[in-house]
Order: sequence, then structure tokens, then C-alpha cells
Amino acid sequence: MSRIAYVNGQYVPHPEAAVHVEDRGYQFADGVYEVIAVARGALIDEEGHMIRLERSLDELRIARPMGRPALAHIMREVVRRNRVVDGLIYIQMTRGVAPRDHAFPANAETSVVMTAKRTKPANPALLRDGAKVITIPDIRWERCDIKTVSLLPNCLGKQQAREAGALEAWQVDARDGTVTEGTSTNAWIVTKEGEVVTRKADHAILNGITRIAVLEIIARQQGLKFVERPFTVEEAKNAREAFLTSTTAFVTPIVRIDDALVGDGKPGPVAKSLREAYLVHMTEQAAEQGAAA
Ligand code: PDD
Repeated sequence: MSRIAYVNGQYVPHPEAAVHVEDRGYQFADGVYEVIAVARGALIDEEGHMIRLERSLDELRIARPMGRPALAHIMREVVRRNRVVDGLIYIQMTRGVAPRDHAFPANAETSVVMTAKRTKPANPALLRDGAKVITIPDIRWERCDIKTVSLLPNCLGKQQAREAGALEAWQVDARDGTVTEGTSTNAWIVTKEGEVVTRKADHAILNGITRIAVLEIIARQQGLKFVERPFTVEEAKNAREAFLTSTTAFVTPIVRIDDALVGDGKPGPVAKSLREAYLVHMTEQAAEQGAAA
């Protein structure tokens, strides 16, 4: 099956999909993006992703290129043309094409690129055995709440994790030793008292859409308490459980942080039950969207 990408108003074969050399996304990383999960053909938490996309654009003063209905149409078209049932949509919007100059161009048009691809189900061994994370200094800027394509520290951190045989790198604020987030995931622990902890969504982290969904799940579940506050690496190493969340990883248990085993070194019950509940959340959305279609 040949893949199709959307590039500035046109659906083009993936190998030919290209932007101009003076696109500001290419030259300055002057753009934003979203990754949305597709499950059984349905777009998961579409509204949350749209709200965050618009917020990212507004924070950077990049003109919104189209309204939500037009964007919703293109997303579905890209999914359909690529025959994606379970997979991901990638959307990127940049400040557009203009002669290279750091200040904003007077009249560039926002560039819009979209792709969709199928994904394989999660590796069963990862869910059975849990993941390892390493910790690294957080060297990013002070607006990590904006989902910008400027991801160099994240790429360096993820590569470091890979070379260490880890799934993810947790970034640590050097000022107080607290974990901000992973390079492409949010960070969570469960304390010995059974409280689920994740950092408040301030400017130090991306407010993950999966993070929001999991917080809502916890709020509805009997007997689970959560608190939004920072936690240190030490606290995480001594926690009962740890896990990460993202559009691509859903809820993934963590069993090792650097050289420390978390809890008994096996995926914990809270992470497992939250993953199950998150999968139900996705199935319900697929059923709702299927019923509406
Ligand atoms: N990453 N933190 C960072 C730095 C991220 O890049 C992401 C998402 C998250 C989790 O957000 P969400 O739950 O909305 O996916 C947290 C995407 C998946 C990526 O860059 O591929």
C-alpha cells in the first residue's frame, strides 16, 4: 500500500511529500505538532488534541490555518487514504515559508503537514516485565508546555536512553532534583501510601492528553487518590510503582530507574489497572465514533 501525506492543501504520495527549504519549521523549528492515536479507525481524545494544538499556535503567535471542521475532515481523509485502523496521525504546523530572518515574516502562510501510519500492538514482554528509565538533566527551555517541534534535547535524551538499554529518559530539574517528564512521555509514581503522583501541568512539562485522560480515570475510580506535585528522583526510586503515559505508550509500567529497582521490580497493580482502564477509554471512544458514523 502506498502511503499518502497531506501537504499544504494536497494529498501526495509519501515519498514525494516535501516542504520548501525556507520553511521556518525546517530552518528555525518554528512550529508545533500533535500526535493523535487512532484506535479501530477512531480518533482518540480529538478535542483535547485540538485544544492543545490551538493553544500551542496561539502561544507562538502562529496563525491558525483553518477551523476545526476543516482539520477534522483532513485528519479523517489522511486516515482513510492510508487505511489506518490502529495507528497514529502526525500533524505539524509551522509559521510558513519566508526568506530566512529570525523575526516573524510579515505575511507567511502557516504550513500544514499531516501523515498517518499503522502501529503494531505493544510488545507483550514490555508490559509483562516493565520498562527501564534513566535520569538525565533537563536542559530544555522554560516553555515545555508548548508542543513545539524544537525537540533537540528530547532527541538527545531518548538516544541516551536507547544506548543505556532503557525505554525512556526522565528529565530532572537541576535546581531541585525533581523529575519534570520523559523525553516524549509524562512521568508518574505511586507512593508507599498508595497515592498516585504526577507533576502539575505548569510550564515545565507538556500537559499530556493521556495524562489528562488518566487523571480523569483515577478521579472516577473508587479508592485511588492522586496528587499533582513534583517528586524527586530519590522519591521515585523508593516508590511502590512508577509508570509513564503518552499517546504512543498509553500507560507503561516502569520497574527500574537508573540502577534502582522500583518496588519489587515487577509492573505494579495500579499501573496495570490504569492501562486496562485507558484501553477501555479508547474502546469506548471507538464505539461512540462508530455509532456516530
Ligand atoms: N509525545 N511529554 C512530552 C515531552 C511529549 O513529547 C509527549 C508526547 C508527552 C505525552 O503527551 P500525550 O499524552 O499528549 O501524547 C509528554 C508525542 C507522543 C511524540 O512526540 O511523539
